[in-house]
Amino acid sequence: MKIIINTAENIARQAAAQYQELLRGKPDAVLGLATGSTPLALYAELARLNQAGEISFARATSFNLDEYIGLPKGHPESYRCFMDRNLFSHIDIPLARTHVPSGADTSESAALAYEAEIERAGGLDLQLLGIGDNGHIGFDEPGTPFGSCTHCTALAASTREANKRFFSSLDEVPTHAVTMGIRTVMNARAIILIALGPNKAEALRATVLGEVTENVPASVLQLHPNVTIYADYEAAALLN
Ligand code: GLP
Repeated sequence: MKIIINTAENIARQAAAQYQELLRGKPDAVLGLATGSTPLALYAELARLNQAGEISFARATSFNLDEYIGLPKGHPESYRCFMDRNLFSHIDIPLARTHVPSGADTSESAALAYEAEIERAGGLDLQLLGIGDNGHIGFDEPGTPFGSCTHCTALAASTREANKRFFSSLDEVPTHAVTMGIRTVMNARAIILIALGPNKAEALRATVLGEVTENVPASVLQLHPNVTIYADYEAAALLN
């Protein structure tokens, strides 16, 4: 794993440069995208570069990692709305080629269809990840089998607690979500994981230095041939 430790501001710039390089060489690249507060600065930088004509998403396709189950369509905290608000409405990607799993159709066939669509698009060129305080990626919580594909899952109590800041109360935080599986993520040709802030330090230590175990979903990345981890100084505090 390549590990880059820098300020959050520089990380956004460096990760954005990785997207520039990818899209310059492959304008129709397939991007795996993520939500949460972690990618916000990167998305702002991608929007700035796009508006400056320094990157184009006009031929790109995207697939998001996950979506809450049970939020009404158009709920501002749904990941579809998050992506529209924080990235898609600011760049030139055709909305029809942006995919977010459906939080309404939770059938097995919808999950299989999401996997099939990724494959039909040619597979993920670059998957972006944040990391949960408990080491989750997407909504693949500790214990998720490494062989998993897109599926519905229950959120860990600590994940609901961490995400309640976006809702008016814990009761409003969905209990379930649909998420790409660990295998879906590992099938990406390249992966970027960004970790920011002191709350991520222990999860990042376990991911990078701990054993590869389903108890720490992100630790599976040790087995991937092309992973870049960007960590700010606080998240990287336990790495030496
Ligand atoms: C969320 C998302 C993850 C994200 C993580 C961390 O619940 N499903 O994709 O990486 O938790 O979120 P944040 O970036 O806000 O710390």
